[in-house]
Amino acid sequence: MAKTLFLLPGDGIGPEAMGEVRKIIAYMNEELAADFVLDEGLVGGAAYDAHGAAISEEDMAKAMQADAVLFGAVGGPKWDAVPYDVRPEAGLLRLRKDMQLFANLRPAICYPALASASSLKPELVEGLDILIVRELTGGVYFGEPKEIIDLGNGQKRGIDTQIYDTYEIERIAGVAFELARTRKNTVCSMEKRNVMKSGVLWNQVVTETHKRSYSDVKLEHMLADAGGMQLVRQPKQFDVIVTDNLFGDMLSDVAAMLTGSLGMLPSASLGAPDARTGKRKALYEPVHGSAPDIAGKGIANPIAMIASFAMCLRYSFDMVKEADSLEKAIADVLDQGIRTSDIMAEGARQVGTVEMGDTILKTFAGLQSR
Ligand code: NAD
Ligand code: IPM
Ligand code: MN
Repeated sequence: MAKTLFLLPGDGIGPEAMGEVRKIIAYMNEELAADFVLDEGLVGGAAYDAHGAAISEEDMAKAMQADAVLFGAVGGPKWDAVPYDVRPEAGLLRLRKDMQLFANLRPAICYPALASASSLKPELVEGLDILIVRELTGGVYFGEPKEIIDLGNGQKRGIDTQIYDTYEIERIAGVAFELARTRKNTVCSMEKRNVMKSGVLWNQVVTETHKRSYSDVKLEHMLADAGGMQLVRQPKQFDVIVTDNLFGDMLSDVAAMLTGSLGMLPSASLGAPDARTGKRKALYEPVHGSAPDIAGKGIANPIAMIASFAMCLRYSFDMVKEADSLEKAIADVLDQGIRTSDIMAEGARQVGTVEMGDTILKTFAGLQSR
C-alpha cells in the first residue's frame, strides 16, 4: 500500500539535508519497491515569503493527512523582524500542536567512531545510548496568557505560563515507561518541584503512573538543573529521560553535544494511536536548526536528517530492517573515517553534504544486496 510522506524542507540547511533523504527515498522506491508517495510544501521563512504565514492552510491540511511528515529546519536572520505570530518557528509549533504530537523522542547515541568528536572525554561517551522523551504540546510553550503587556509607566511585562494537566503528564510518562521496557528498563524523570507547582504535579503523576502500571521499570527523579549537570558529568548513568517541553528542549541540545555534533541528532514527534486505525500522526525532524552560519555552503551534516528518516521507517511504517540498515550505513560511513566539517577529526576525510549523503546511500544499498 502506498505510504504518503509530506516533505517540509524549510529554511537554511533544511533543504540541503532533505535533498539527501530524497535520494534515499528514490532509491527505496526504485530498488526496494517501497511505494513512498511524496508531496512537498513550504514551512518557516520560505512559507512566509510565499504566503505571509509560517505555513499555509493547504500545507497544514496535507500534513494532517500524510502518513508521516519529514521536516527540515526553519528560521534565520532574514526573518528576525517579522511579526511574532508568523515568525518561521510558529510553523513548526503549529504543526506540533494541531497534529497533537505530544511525544518527542530524541535519542542521543554516540557512534563509536565519534567518541573523540565529543567535547567530553571519550571514555565518558563511548557507547552512550540515551533517549530523551520530551513532552511537546504543553508547558510554557503553549500556556496562556502568553503576552507582553504595557504597564503604562514606561515598563512592560513579558508573560509566559507553564501549565500541565494530569492527562498530559500521564500520557508522556506512559510513552517513556513503554520505551524503557524495550531498552535498559530505567526512566529518570526531571522537573523542578522545588520551585514550580507544575513540577510538584509532574513528580506526583509520574510516580502514580509508575506505581499503577509500570512498577517493573526502575524510576528515578532528578531536579532538572542537577539533571543537566549529571548529563555532562556521567551521561551513561541514563537510559530514558522524561521531561517537560522547555527542559526537554535544553537538555536535548546538551545531549546532542555528547554525541559529537548537533548535526547528528534525529527526532520523532508522535501523536496518540488513532482509536480506529491504530495509526499515529508523526513528524520527523533533526534536533538542529537552520544553521544560518553554514547555510548554502554545502557543508551541513545530513546525518541528523537521514537518521530522522530512519526513525520514520521504524515508527511510522514498521520497516525495522530498513531502519536498522540505514542506521548501520551511517555507523559504517563514520567508521570509514568520512566526516563533514562539524565532526572532522585528524586523519579523517572531509566531505560536504552531498558526498556524505551519497556515501551513506551507497553503503545502505550495499547492505540491501547482501
Ligand atoms: P542551529 O541548530 O541552527 O545551529 C547551532 C550551531 O550548530 C551552528 O553553529 C550550526 O552551524 C551548527 N549546526 C547545526 N546543525 C548542523 C548540521 N547539520 N551540520 C553542521 N553544523 C550544524 O541553532 P541556532 O543557530 O541557535 O538557530 C538558528 C535558527 O534555527 C533560529 O532561527 C532558530 O529558531 C532555528 N531553530 C530551528 C529548529 C527547527 O527548525 N527544528 C531547531 C533549532 C533552532
Ligand atoms: C527544537 C527547536 C524548537 C523548540 C524551536 C525552533 C521552536 O529549538 O525543536 O528543539 O524550541 O522546540
Ligand atoms: Mn531546540
